[in-house]
Amino acid sequence: MTPRSFLLTPELGDYVRASSEPPDDVVADLLAETAALADRGEASPTYQIAPEQGTFMQLLTRALGARRAIEIGTFTGYSALCVARGLPEDGSLLCLDSSAEWTAVARRYWARAGLADRVEVRLGDAHESLRALPAEATFDLAFVDADKTGYADYVEQLHPRMTGNGVVLLDNTLRGGRVLDPQSDDDRALAELNAALAADPRWETVLLPLSDGLTMLRRR
Ligand SMILES: C[S@@+](CC[C@H](N)C(=O)[O-])C[C@H]1O[C@@H](n2cnc3c(N)ncnc32)[C@H](O)[C@@H]1O
Repeated sequence: MTPRSFLLTPELGDYVRASSEPPDDVVADLLAETAALADRGEASPTYQIAPEQGTFMQLLTRALGARRAIEIGTFTGYSALCVARGLPEDGSLLCLDSSAEWTAVARRYWARAGLADRVEVRLGDAHESLRALPAEATFDLAFVDADKTGYADYVEQLHPRMTGNGVVLLDNTLRGGRVLDPQSDDDRALAELNAALAADPRWETVLLPLSDGLTMLRRR
């Protein structure tokens, strides 16, 4: 598989995955179908989160006892499947994405996993969809994995919408290490946001070197 972590050798990456809960048939098929999309040049090979990150997010969702979750950037639905699996039966996950095509793949796998009634997709620009939600404490968990220059806005919009103790996860916050020497607007956006969040008293912040960097924010 395409490595997601620049910090691990391919052999250590395999070891990390072999030392975590293995994927079941639904996940294995979703990973294979998404890899085939990338092989045909129809999607980026690094869009989907790494399997060990998915397993971590599922465990974290369950450990937090999260009931209501939101995802910004769903693609073919792997990260959403992991979060949805960590929710209780009456829990809910709202997915924001602009692609009807990619989220159609996601829906097939959520249905196979028996999660269809736990997940709702809202198509359109995620900034607008998020802004349209009531600005009240709603979500116990949020995962942000969409346009990188939009992360600062997503974090601001999420703040009033998170429950006290609610956790926000931000993907790709190491940008392959380029946060130290930004090469693009996306790299600069994440480097600036990382610095701002470390000094923001509204959030308890840790940047975990998992995969391409996963920042965890807890609303104080
Ligand atoms: C990196 S992929 C998400 C991968 C997904 N979390 C997973 O693990 O499979 C980014 C997704 O964000 C969506 N996206 C990017 N910018 C967006 C925006 N402004 N509004 C809505 N969706 C957006 C893209 O359509 C794409 O599906």
